[in-house]
Amino acid sequence: MRHLMSPLDFSVEELDRLLDLANDIEKHPDKYSHVCAGKKLATCFYEPSTRTRLSFEAAMLNLGGSVLGFSDAGSSSAAKGESVSDTIRVISCYADICAIRHPKEGAALVASQKSLIPVINAGDGGHQHPTQTLTDLLTIRSLKGRLSDLTIGLCGDLKFGRTVHSLINALIRYENVRFVLISPEELRIPSYIRDDVLRAHQIEFKEVERLEDAMTGLDVLYMTRVQRERFFNEEEYIRLKDFYILTKAKMELAKPDMLVLHPLPRVNEISVEVDEDPRAAYFKQAQYGVYVRMALILTLLGIHAE
Ligand code: CP
Repeated sequence: MRHLMSPLDFSVEELDRLLDLANDIEKHPDKYSHVCAGKKLATCFYEPSTRTRLSFEAAMLNLGGSVLGFSDAGSSSAAKGESVSDTIRVISCYADICAIRHPKEGAALVASQKSLIPVINAGDGGHQHPTQTLTDLLTIRSLKGRLSDLTIGLCGDLKFGRTVHSLINALIRYENVRFVLISPEELRIPSYIRDDVLRAHQIEFKEVERLEDAMTGLDVLYMTRVQRERFFNEEEYIRLKDFYILTKAKMELAKPDMLVLHPLPRVNEISVEVDEDPRAAYFKQAQYGVYVRMALILTLLGIHAE
């Protein structure tokens, strides 16, 4: 039995196969429409979500399976004090695979250690969000044609943004990938990523504060929301929340084929006027999230289409 806690749980070759499968699902959805008949996905979300939970549910329904779960810890027995370990042990009796989101770092790992079914980390605190990373990799590979030879700008809340941490970990395994880390001083990338990941692997990167200074050289600009739920101080959040706003004027500084990605939800960090720009790929990215989660469910359940 296999779980997904981090994007690094898959080798590069396994990731390539998963992304190939997702592309095949995109092209031939009918081939996969009944392959999970009789299988059940449980979604256990202790934190709010729109995309991750609903794209997992859409993925299982598209595969002909069924879904059950909760989207609010307050409506589950967590409200009565039940541990994550006990909850997953019980869910193992009801479902074949489980996606779990929890505000505490490591909660999905704890669940996987007690589970009798595959567990997918759908986001654990400020730590990792591996299925968002799979989505991001599929989007970049599908739209740019490669995951190597890229300059990636990561902009916004690099301190608390778990999607950024997971994406850096995943992309450093490809050739000739460089990063431009764009953040205010208070939201810089944590040292365990800067030192233990980027410097340790001799990855080229620079840190800048102004988005305008980074735009011209980027192949991909990955915008992020300032993570209000991770701040201890509301005043600090209010001071930083609109630090970056990507506008049409700033897009004029970028390459004609630069992709703009965002894991969403967006607040103010991308002006809605940018949505019309053909380089804005964040809604396509949400669609790719369904294909890649379909591929992941099939892979973890060991199911192959004819
Ligand atoms: N990208 C993402 O994780 O979105 P949700 O919080 O809506 O699931």
